[in-house]
Amino acid sequence: MRSGKHVVLFTLVAMNFIEQPAPEVTIEQGTLSGRISEDGLIFEYLGIPYATTNESARFKAPLPPPTWKGIFKATDDSTACPQNNLIAIRGVEDCLKINVYVPAFATKPLPVMVFIHGGAFFLGDGGKIFQGPKFLLKQDVILVTFNYRIGVLGFLCLGIEEAPGNAGLKDQLAALRWVKRNIKAFGGDNDNVTVFGVSAGAASVSLLIASGKLDGLVQKAIIQSGSALAHWAISRKPLSVANYVLKPLGYDTEDPYELYSILNSMTYKRLAALPYDKPVEQYLDTQLIHLPCIEKTFPGTEAIITDYPYNLLKRNPSNISVIHGTTDQEGLFFISYDTIDTINFRNGKYLMASDLVFETNEEAEKVSKEIQDLYFLEEPISMKTAMNLSELYKHLHFEIPSIIESQILVETSNATLYNYYFKYSGNRNYLKFALGYNEIDGACHGDDLLYIFDSLLWPFKINEEDNLMIRRMTTMWTNFAKYGDPTPTATRELPIRWLPSNKENLRFLYIDKNFEMASMPSPEAYKIWKNIYQKYRKTR
Ligand SMILES: *[C@@H]1O[C@H](CO)[C@@H](O)[C@H](O)[C@H]1NC(C)=O
Ligand SMILES: *[C@@H]1O[C@H](CO)[C@@H](O)[C@H](O)[C@H]1NC(C)=O
Ligand SMILES: *[C@@H]1O[C@H](CO)[C@@H](O)[C@H](O)[C@H]1NC(C)=O
Ligand SMILES: *[C@@H]1O[C@H](CO)[C@@H](O)[C@H](O)[C@H]1NC(C)=O
Ligand SMILES: *[C@@H]1O[C@H](CO)[C@@H](O)[C@H](O)[C@H]1NC(C)=O
Repeated sequence: MRSGKHVVLFTLVAMNFIEQPAPEVTIEQGTLSGRISEDGLIFEYLGIPYATTNESARFKAPLPPPTWKGIFKATDDSTACPQNNLIAIRGVEDCLKINVYVPAFATKPLPVMVFIHGGAFFLGDGGKIFQGPKFLLKQDVILVTFNYRIGVLGFLCLGIEEAPGNAGLKDQLAALRWVKRNIKAFGGDNDNVTVFGVSAGAASVSLLIASGKLDGLVQKAIIQSGSALAHWAISRKPLSVANYVLKPLGYDTEDPYELYSILNSMTYKRLAALPYDKPVEQYLDTQLIHLPCIEKTFPGTEAIITDYPYNLLKRNPSNISVIHGTTDQEGLFFISYDTIDTINFRNGKYLMASDLVFETNEEAEKVSKEIQDLYFLEEPISMKTAMNLSELYKHLHFEIPSIIESQILVETSNATLYNYYFKYSGNRNYLKFALGYNEIDGACHGDDLLYIFDSLLWPFKINEEDNLMIRRMTTMWTNFAKYGDPTPTATRELPIRWLPSNKENLRFLYIDKNFEMASMPSPEAYKIWKNIYQKYRKTR
C-alpha cells in the first residue's frame, strides 16, 4: 500500500502535476515563487507582470506593473496578448507577462539573454510552447521571454496622444527596463544583457537599437531575419490601415479622433478579430498591416521611433555589439502564401516595395524592369518561375535590408558586428516542413529558431546531426552573450573562428553541416538594390 502511494506520488511529480517550488525571489514588486522544471535543472518563474495595460492605456505606452503583498505564484506562462491565431481568438488584454529561466546549478551572476518573439507583429507569445529554455540553459545563461501587445492593440498608430503608435515596442522596452531593474534578484548580471529575436522580433530588436533607447540597458543584440530597414518594419500609411480594418464594419474615415473613438469602444476580442492582412497591390509589399510607425511626439510621453529608421540609425550610432543574419530560403515562406492568381497578378506590377519614392511613373517602371531582369530575365512571373520570385522575396524582405543595416552599423559604431547566413537543413526546420517544402535544400524563414529553442510543438526525437547543430548554435549564441565573441576559441565541435565584419569587408559565417567564412551571399543583387535604395529610399 505504502509503496503504491509513493509510486503515485512519484508519478505525479514526474508528470508535473505536483510542482516543486523554486527558491523564492524578491523583486521591486514583491516576493514570488516559481517552479522547478521536470528534469530538476531549471528554476522557472513564469507569467510575472512586468507592466500593465488596461483601458486607460490601451494603445499607449504601458503603465507600471502591480505590486503585491504575500507571495506571487509565478508558475503560469499560458497568458497571451489578444490575437487571432487563425483558429480562434485567444489572449487577454492584461497580458504583459515575463518569464525568467534560471539554471539551478550555475554560479551566479549569470549573463542574461532576452528574447523578443516573432509572429509578424500580430501573432505569438513568450510562452515555452515555442520558446523552450532547455538548450540555452545548458550553457549557463538566464533566459527571459515575454509577451508584448500585437495587432491593433500593439500597433494602432493614429498620430494622436490617445494612440500615438508603437505600443508593442513600448512594451518591449518596458520589459528590458524591468530586466535591468530586477534580474539581479534572480542571479543575473544586469550589465551583461543580450537581446535577440527572429523575424518581427528581429525587426523589433533593430528598431530598438535605432531608437537609441537601449543604451545602458543592453550590451549585445542578435538580429535573426529582420531589420528596421526592411520595408515591412514601418507602416507608412497608418491612418489608411485603421480605415481599412473598419471598412467591413461599415465605417469609412481617416479622421484620427473618429477612428480612435470607434476602436476604443470595442472589446479586445473584437479588436483582435479585425483584419490583419491586406490584398496584394501595385507595390511588392508584404500583406502585413499592423506595424511599427513613425511617431509624433507629445509632451510628457516617450516616443520611440521618431523618424525613419534609416535616419535614426545614421544619427544614433550605438555601441551595442551585433550578430546579424538571414537564411538562404527566406522566400519560401512567402511563396507558400501565394496563389496562381497572386503570382500572375505580379506581371506588369512593381517588383519593389513602397518604401521608395519616384518622381515619375516612368522612373518607377525603369527600376522595376531592372529588378525583373535580375530575377526573371524575359520569363513571365508564373508558377514556373516561382523559385525566382522566392529569391526576390528573400532579398527584398530580408537579405538586402540586413546587409544595408550591417554596413551602417559597421561604419558608424565601434561595436563589433558578426554576420551569418543560415543554410542548414535538418529535421527541425519546422517552417519548411509545415509549409510542405521538404524537398528543397536549405533553411526557410524562421527555420533557425528550433536549433536554439526546444518546442512542445515539435516533440520529435532529435537525431545526432541536429543535436550537434543545436549545440553549435547555442554555444555560439551564448558565447556571444557572455564574451561578445561567438567563437572565442576554436573547439572540436566548433572548429572555426567566426571573424567580425569590418568597414572594408562584411564577412559571413555560412552555417551548414560544415561551417565556413565567406563574403556576402549575393553581391550582384546587393549592388543593384543598394543603388536603388541610395537613389529612391523614402526618408522624409
Ligand atoms: C490601469 O492600471 C493602472 C496601473 O496599474 C492603475 O493605476 C489604473 O487604476 C488602472 N485603470 C483601470 C481602469 O483599471
Ligand atoms: C555605450 O553608450 C552608452 C550611452 O552612450 C554609455 O552609457 C555606455 O557606457 C557605453 N558602453 C560602452 C561599452 O562604451
Ligand atoms: C567610437 O570611437 C571614437 C574614437 O574613440 C569616438 O570618438 C566615438 O564617439 C565612438 N563612437 C561611439 C558610437 O561610441
Ligand atoms: C530562375 O530560377 C532558376 C531555378 O532556380 C535558375 O536556374 C535561373 O537562373 C533563375 N533565373 C534568373 C534570371 O535568375
Ligand atoms: C559577462 O559574463 C561572462 C560570463 O559570466 C563574463 O565572463 C564576462 O566578463 C561578463 N561580461 C561583462 C561585460 O560583464
